Amino acid sequence: MGVFYDMLQYPVMEKGKKIVIANWKMNPQTFSAAKRLFLGIKKKAVTLRNTDTVIAPPFVFLSSLSKLYSSRRMALSGQDVFWEKKGSFTGEVSTSQLKESGADYVIVGHSERRALGETNDMVHRKVKAVIKEGLTAIVCIGESEHDSHGAYLKFLREQLESALVKIKAGNLKNIIIAYEPLWAIGKTNDEAITPEKLHETILFIRRVLIEMYNKDIAFNTRIIYGGSVERGNAHALLIQGTAQGFLVGHASLDALEFGDILDIANQVIEH
Ligand code: 13P
Repeated sequence: MGVFYDMLQYPVMEKGKKIVIANWKMNPQTFSAAKRLFLGIKKKAVTLRNTDTVIAPPFVFLSSLSKLYSSRRMALSGQDVFWEKKGSFTGEVSTSQLKESGADYVIVGHSERRALGETNDMVHRKVKAVIKEGLTAIVCIGESEHDSHGAYLKFLREQLESALVKIKAGNLKNIIIAYEPLWAIGKTNDEAITPEKLHETILFIRRVLIEMYNKDIAFNTRIIYGGSVERGNAHALLIQGTAQGFLVGHASLDALEFGDILDIANQVIEH
């Protein structure tokens, strides 16, 4: 696509450290199963020098899981958060409560939250609250249809601009953009995005970041990919796709498969 050609002169960033995030969603069903899975993943995660591993379990498991590791190569994340500090907001969880429970990261604007009614404005409020607390926001954006006319680019631009409006350049180091096209979530690796399409979309996201900030910010902001990442497509999505890491759903519920994805991410730096 012509609009991207001017971007191709910029460095491809597959050489940096990767970040791989396990989004367990509403799984597993018991703490003992969560603990087993966590410890299975930990065995691999703590050995990897070039990959940070982040686990996003259901809120109720955060605090107990936080006692099971001390490595700086691992961290915990909330799957969502509310923007108010405290008060009468039944069912919600604040940034400071997440921090107290051991989370350093928070997923914001996941498509499954947006499907339940979360708007761009709500996502923005959450991003602001997360940054204010000194946590890192994993900001999810993604189109439901990857049309050939490029309407999806307008949609992505809107999601990105509204999430980051008035967020200062200095705060972008505490933001990770997770590109998760809805049409690629919950499938298998052969139905996921192609590395070429991913590369193109990541370039587009960086272009929007240049317009909003500058080249430096655009090329230093971490952009990861989510949507049917499995051991079979991880390598290509990192190398040709130029993702700097992953947000992994179903494959993160299997310690062996997730461990393989971590290994693949860790080896990419060798290239
Ligand atoms: P899957 O990896 O199961 O497609 O889920 C992706 C996702 O939604 C991660 O946040």
